[in-house]
Amino acid sequence: MRILITGGCGFIGSNFIRLLLHSDSGAMVYNVDKLTYAGNPANLDDVSAAFKERYRLIRADIADAAAMGRLFREACFDAVVNFAAESHVDRSIVDSAPFIHTNILGTQTLLSLTREHGVGRFVHISTDEVYGSLPLEQKNRAFKESDPLEPNSPYSASKASADLLCRAWHETYGFPAIITRCSNNYGPCQFPEKLIPFMYARACANEPLPVYGDGKNVRDWIHVEDHCKGVLLALQKGRPGAVYNFGGNAERSNLDVVRAILSYCGKNDSLIRHVKDRPGHDRRYAMDYSRAAEELGFAPSRDFEQGLTATLDWYARNRGWTEHITSGAYLNFLQDWYGERL
Ligand code: NAD
Ligand code: DAU
Repeated sequence: MRILITGGCGFIGSNFIRLLLHSDSGAMVYNVDKLTYAGNPANLDDVSAAFKERYRLIRADIADAAAMGRLFREACFDAVVNFAAESHVDRSIVDSAPFIHTNILGTQTLLSLTREHGVGRFVHISTDEVYGSLPLEQKNRAFKESDPLEPNSPYSASKASADLLCRAWHETYGFPAIITRCSNNYGPCQFPEKLIPFMYARACANEPLPVYGDGKNVRDWIHVEDHCKGVLLALQKGRPGAVYNFGGNAERSNLDVVRAILSYCGKNDSLIRHVKDRPGHDRRYAMDYSRAAEELGFAPSRDFEQGLTATLDWYARNRGWTEHITSGAYLNFLQDWYGERL
């Protein structure tokens, strides 16, 4: 099976390619990645060494129809899994243009080429953020696939737009699109702008930890390997046209997560700074993943506290990885974004 994976040098895509190549001996993987600030080929050094014959990295922009068209003609894909995206909410608040380009135009380019070339399977990786926000008070409510899309950030609006394009391609052309929507991932190789690796790096350096607003916002955390197993199940068994929610059974407030990181580092709460809130900050996410459980056999297996400790152990062992990817441009973004907050 010849599979196009987009965004495979990012956090989740790289973990997925590793899982796919180890679990399917017939898979030939073409990883198309633009190598933005978030794309790091070194995330797959072990894979490119172990699977020389079955893994190929192509540097390209998924919204570049000419380059992608050449690749589709040459490779004759059996399936496409689209991870490529601009993924960071705060960046989308500063500048939405790259989000519209990659998340919407990039998805439309892939949908058109996949249809034109008769590719039999298309899995689009989406997010719980397309559903908007749940109130803290209604503890029993969780997002279902049938809920309306009510995105609140430029990032989530661009992801919801892509989901609607996938839906339209299925309804209009009978195109075999499958959408997966997952909650917050954590694990190795996550770019250190995201909450867990960011706070860990700050705590290690004894720098203040900027918690947005009151810190009571809740996210449902899932280990990246559990998410990747869900995506693999969707690729193998998903129903064309279906949407599948994935969640981790681990709702935690941001303050709880930050305190757990401080405790891992042997530091106390005095490093916490409550700073100006993120505009449009969603209060709570929670996922009802019963459809994925029934149809795909999906179930998250990792306990959050154990998974968090293992993840922080990984960052502690791989300090060089974090230092290598935190470039000048990344530090400029941090200064602009947090400057007035801290
Ligand atoms: P990431 O930012 O770590 O990686 C994104 C990858 O996409 C990078 O390798 C980047 O170089 C590549 N890319 C960006 N623009 C591209 C383009 N135009 N053409 C080709 N490649 C391009 O993101 P992630 O956290 O691994 O997220 C992967 C996917 O999963 C995204 O679609 C995201 O919306 C979704 N998702 C993420 C989470 C999460 O918690 N991180 C949760 C649910 C869904
Ligand atoms: O829910 C899935 C989404 O999770 C994915 O679709 C996104 O791609 C991914 O980036 C992530 O979005 P979040 O905005 O939830 O993740 P982030 O790590 O940026 O923030 C997690 C929470 O922590 C959020 O409530 C904001 C808060 N936060 C974050 C940072 C970076 C802070 O309080 N301070 C911070 O410095």
